Amino acid sequence: MSKQLFSEQLLQWFDIAGRKDLPWQQDISPYRVWVSEIMLQQTQVSTVIPYYLRFMARFPDIASLALAPNDEVLALWTGLGYYARARNLHKAAKMICEDFGGVFPGDPETIQTLPGIGRSTAAAIYSIAIGGRAPILDGNVKRVLSRYAAIDGWPGIKDIESQLWLLAEDLTPKKRVADYTQAIMDLGATLCTRSKPKCPECPVQSGCEAYAAGTQTNYPGKKPKKATPVREIHLLIIENAAGEILLEQRPNSGIWGGLWSLPEAVDFDTAAHYLKNTLNAKGQIQAWPNMRHTFSHFHLDITPLHIKLKADISTIMEPREMLWYKGHSNQQVGLAAPVKKLLDAVFSQDLLRKHSA
Ligand code: ADE
Ligand code: SF4
Repeated sequence: MSKQLFSEQLLQWFDIAGRKDLPWQQDISPYRVWVSEIMLQQTQVSTVIPYYLRFMARFPDIASLALAPNDEVLALWTGLGYYARARNLHKAAKMICEDFGGVFPGDPETIQTLPGIGRSTAAAIYSIAIGGRAPILDGNVKRVLSRYAAIDGWPGIKDIESQLWLLAEDLTPKKRVADYTQAIMDLGATLCTRSKPKCPECPVQSGCEAYAAGTQTNYPGKKPKKATPVREIHLLIIENAAGEILLEQRPNSGIWGGLWSLPEAVDFDTAAHYLKNTLNAKGQIQAWPNMRHTFSHFHLDITPLHIKLKADISTIMEPREMLWYKGHSNQQVGLAAPVKKLLDAVFSQDLLRKHSA
């Protein structure tokens, strides 16, 4: 990877393809660039333009913004969203008037102390409006650089972000920094897009490691997913003397809505309680090996408890929601997948028993 090649190719592309007619690219001043950078933080260029023009017409300089009532600043922001940006802009304008004699600070460290301005935005203002050399690293640039140098891992991790800052610093040229800053942001916004990057048109393709490996969309690395939660339940396989299994219909909402399932208990003791008090029955409880069933956002760890009743239950309290399943193909009921598996296991066991008897 050649550092110099990267900026040369990028600047050459900017000379041919870069936009140079945007409102904030005229009459360049720190104030005008600052406002544009804040508006462009979470909003695309075409949306920003009319807001920017109205804002500049009403607040042509820092002093006019600092003196404005808060409501008026927010009114001009209506529709742009992320209103903290407008509140910070207003607050920073007042700070500049009170603490810096109304003059926008001239170095990136001081610029960064203003509310709403982080390291990258400070560098963008410093390079574009003042012509100084400071690397930028906004979301678009993180994507370009992580692909260019195949930097794996989520940029939300400190170490990954540091690597990207070092690379950004390394690649920023000594000359034409303003154009370079604009060019790398434009590359990220127009060609090196999140999905389907337009690599065949990309000026830095020859040095791009992700392009060479065909792995562009693996970068930047994604935020690690939280571990899938696990829910534990006990399913009761209650078998009567006729070899039938008790099923309950699930409520319509929630997992397995409306399907027939085995009675559920949170633990062994609850199962024993259910047997004694709800069913008014006696039986041996035997735990079967656990099984895991995976849903889209959690694992269900099932402990099946097999209960052979000592005597039949004559009546079931809620007959419409319960039935004795005989395992015949003519008894058609909708079953949840793990329940079906357990029932198959019971009936194949019974079959084995009958054959060996
Ligand atoms: N996003 C943030 N700053 C930008 C700029 N100067 N040009 C295009 N997109 C941007
Ligand atoms: Fe992005 Fe493709 Fe250019 Fe690499 S070649 S920087 S992935 S657009």
